Amino acid sequence: MASLPLRFGLVGTGYWARIAHAPALASTEDIELAAVWGRDRQAAADLAAVHDATPYEDMAAFLAAVDGVAFAVPPDVQAPIATAAARAGKHLLLEKPLAISEAEADDLVEAVTQGQVASVVFFTLRFQAPMRAWLADVTARGGWTGSVASWFGSSMLESSPFNTPWRREKGALWDVAPHVVSLLWAALGPVTAVTADAGMADVSHLILHHEGGATSAVTVSQGAGETAAGFEAFVWGGSGRSAAPAGATDPLPPLRTALAELAANARSGRTDHPCDARFGRDVGRVIAEAQRQIDQRRIDPRRQAEALG
Ligand SMILES: NC(=O)c1ccc[n+]([C@@H]2O[C@H](COP(=O)([O-])OP(=O)(O)OC[C@H]3O[C@@H](n4cnc5c(N)ncnc54)[C@H](OP(=O)(O)O)[C@@H]3O)[C@@H](O)[C@H]2O)c1
Repeated sequence: MASLPLRFGLVGTGYWARIAHAPALASTEDIELAAVWGRDRQAAADLAAVHDATPYEDMAAFLAAVDGVAFAVPPDVQAPIATAAARAGKHLLLEKPLAISEAEADDLVEAVTQGQVASVVFFTLRFQAPMRAWLADVTARGGWTGSVASWFGSSMLESSPFNTPWRREKGALWDVAPHVVSLLWAALGPVTAVTADAGMADVSHLILHHEGGATSAVTVSQGAGETAAGFEAFVWGGSGRSAAPAGATDPLPPLRTALAELAANARSGRTDHPCDARFGRDVGRVIAEAQRQIDQRRIDPRRQAEALG
């Protein structure tokens, strides 16, 4: 006898919830979008109505109605709600970055571990089929010396639906660098150290050291104009270069893949996944360390000027 689909609740009712999470939840096999929670009661009712789901105002009632929770809210809002959801035994489809505070990220990972729930962080590039094929090829070949990657976005434009308060505050370092770090981590090995500096127009530069010795140079910004926007990455070494495919723009296929893998793990009792909450926490530690260095440079620019004579 076929089992009932897993009931998922969606936390968040903004642009990303409406164009990505809700339609992906509603169209993934073995998953039912059963509930929507948002701080805006009307927005929750409207989004729930589109998908024949139930809107909730009360978080405890929302959690009691579902098997899993998907998040489309800012990271500092996601982390504590996800921790409570994991403690209540709910499986988690999380967004990047996992959290802003490292302590909250640790709490979430502990709750996921204690609750023995499945978790997946939606590092979009890691769920795109062409990117997975590229990763399979570069990891099979190995022997790379390093990589160069850039992601220039235009979320800071007034007209962008992604021009949201937390992005304006935290910038591309927290918004898009996690995507790039998660990709290069998979291509070249775990990141063991980072050196970071910032430029104008929301630019962050990261030098990553990977286990095994490879190094990566990453530049991200959300302050690029539309004409400069784009993602590029390549790995290089003795055998030449291999360029990553262009990132796809439609979020639904990779998000359905992430949800399907989460549901399969939830069904089988598996809690580990290459992009699980622990991995999300580890990527977040790289970002937090980069932020510390950038902040330090900002308060101590004279030391640098003196060092350069
Ligand atoms: N993986 C990807 O490629 C990708 C792409 C885009 C976004 N994302 C992720 O999706 C998440 C949300 O996206 P966003 O930043 O674009 O959306 P956002 O507009 O910043 O947040 C969207 C939702 O969060 C709610 N919200 C904001 N502050 C809240 C609070 N203090 N308490 C409760 N709810 C609150 C908003 O409610 P109101 O409507 O009432 O303000 C709205 O429903 C972020 O983690 C982002 O990184 C991922």
